[in-house]
Amino acid sequence: MTSEIKRGTALEDLLEAAREAAKNSYSPYSKFRVGAALRLAGGQIVTGTNVENVSFGLTICAERSALVTAVSKFGPEIRIEAVAVANLNRAASPPCGACRQVLAEFVLPDAQVVFPSSDGMRAMAFSELFPMAFEMKLK
Ligand code: THU
Repeated sequence: MTSEIKRGTALEDLLEAAREAAKNSYSPYSKFRVGAALRLAGGQIVTGTNVENVSFGLTICAERSALVTAVSKFGPEIRIEAVAVANLNRAASPPCGACRQVLAEFVLPDAQVVFPSSDGMRAMAFSELFPMAFEMKLK
């Protein structure tokens, strides 16, 4: 479901916040500069960027960086109603699998996620992007 992101809409504003965040990217290894912006149910916008590490494996993606900031600032009850991802490399960057699993814990199922795909900007519901999150329900 590819949709145009209309100018002047809340999603367009969120994308702009993600682009702005990408300018702070610390990505000397990949040179891939990613930004993410979350809109919380309370209306707050929280951004993050990717922070790489020479060990590579310790790199944190923009989406998880934004999420960690959101919980740190607003607490564990936050609910995310929209997510925007942008990069400054004119490349596709849907949220990676690890970020989807981490976002799943806080995101509302019908939250919109907007990101650059190989055929332009896409917007879709989080539940469509990540239909089967791992969950732990012990009997
Ligand atoms: N990256 C993100 O920030 N978000 C994603 O969802 C996928 C990848 C970053 C991590 C790393 O700094 C660079 O992009 C290349 O993988």
